[in-house]
Amino acid sequence: MRYRRMPIEVESPEQLGYDKIKYNLTESSYADMAFGDLGLDLKDLLVAYCDHRGKPELRQLIARESGLASPDAVLLTPGAAGALFIIATTLLSPDDHLLVVRPNYATNLETPRAIGCHLDLYDLKFEEGFDIDVDQLARMLHPRTKYISITVPHNPTGVVLSEARLRALVALAERRGIKLLVDETYREMTYGGPLPVAASLSPAAISVSSLSKSYGLPGIRMGWLATQDTALMETFLAAKEQIVICNSVVDEEIAWQFLCCKADWLPRIQCDIAEKFAVVRNWYAGQDDVEWVEPRGGVVAFPRIKPARSVDVERFYQILNEQHGTYVGPGHWFEMDRRFFRIGYGWPKKADLAAGLAAITAAVRSA
Ligand SMILES: Cc1ncc(COP(=O)(O)O)c(C=O)c1O
Repeated sequence: MRYRRMPIEVESPEQLGYDKIKYNLTESSYADMAFGDLGLDLKDLLVAYCDHRGKPELRQLIARESGLASPDAVLLTPGAAGALFIIATTLLSPDDHLLVVRPNYATNLETPRAIGCHLDLYDLKFEEGFDIDVDQLARMLHPRTKYISITVPHNPTGVVLSEARLRALVALAERRGIKLLVDETYREMTYGGPLPVAASLSPAAISVSSLSKSYGLPGIRMGWLATQDTALMETFLAAKEQIVICNSVVDEEIAWQFLCCKADWLPRIQCDIAEKFAVVRNWYAGQDDVEWVEPRGGVVAFPRIKPARSVDVERFYQILNEQHGTYVGPGHWFEMDRRFFRIGYGWPKKADLAAGLAAITAAVRSA
């Protein structure tokens, strides 16, 4: 494995220092929860090794909500990041081929690169609404392709694939005898209701998700992968056992107790996200210099400074960061032109979001 640090992590707000940022529009998750607000009781928890697959009741709950028949179709992992690592290192060797839809969450690209496998990129285009043309993608498959990697709702654009497209991709994977990896980390935050969990549609699909984004709980590092392919699941388990043996029993217990009260939390969170999205939409309606594909899910938008505008992009970031103390996710985090930038609107308070957006307008104008 040839590891390389990813710009999105090197330049992340937690590495930069939250105290250096006034308006933080870089985050892709909902606002972080305070432990004391969660109302949890952990005092009888035995701090022991736990079930290697993950707490059975929690897996049962996730399986039921995902439309999966068995809790054994779910493997709990340290975040979605842990799941993605397990999947890539299990399925790929240097001789294999992988097709990744880009832009994408950086780990979906970097772990396969670290393995040294052959990687082809299906580049989403602004002009095509960041949508996937399944026939075009199918033409990029090789005899040695192991899987296709997509993210829905999409990070960084917030675009949501239609259910018909998702099903067409699942059918393609089935026909070609390969896997479809669907990173569903933002699934609970789909406007108008989520797509089916891909793993519930076919043994050819693998789903990945976590508690980080939709619930503002990234610090407990609780995620999962799901597949109906039992033989493959056994290998995923072997990988997990070699990496961490089992998850943190504390994290699993927090996740379990929290998800038992999901019906109390999720509507409130979704309501807050909708209000914040309205703030971003209002802001966008008054913009002349930037354009976007309107997001349909997640808590991110990926506008760009219009190519026809003569804006000094480096100066834009400099003014935004240094004069306004405002940070967004610059395009290079996603291997895109730096005219693009990701706005994370679920994390900041509404007033900070509005101030950060006003700073973007001012910085574009000045640059
Ligand atoms: C699409 C996507 N997948 C996975 C992750 C990793 O999340 P975590 O490991 O916190 O669950 C992220 C984090 O930004 C993400 O955006």
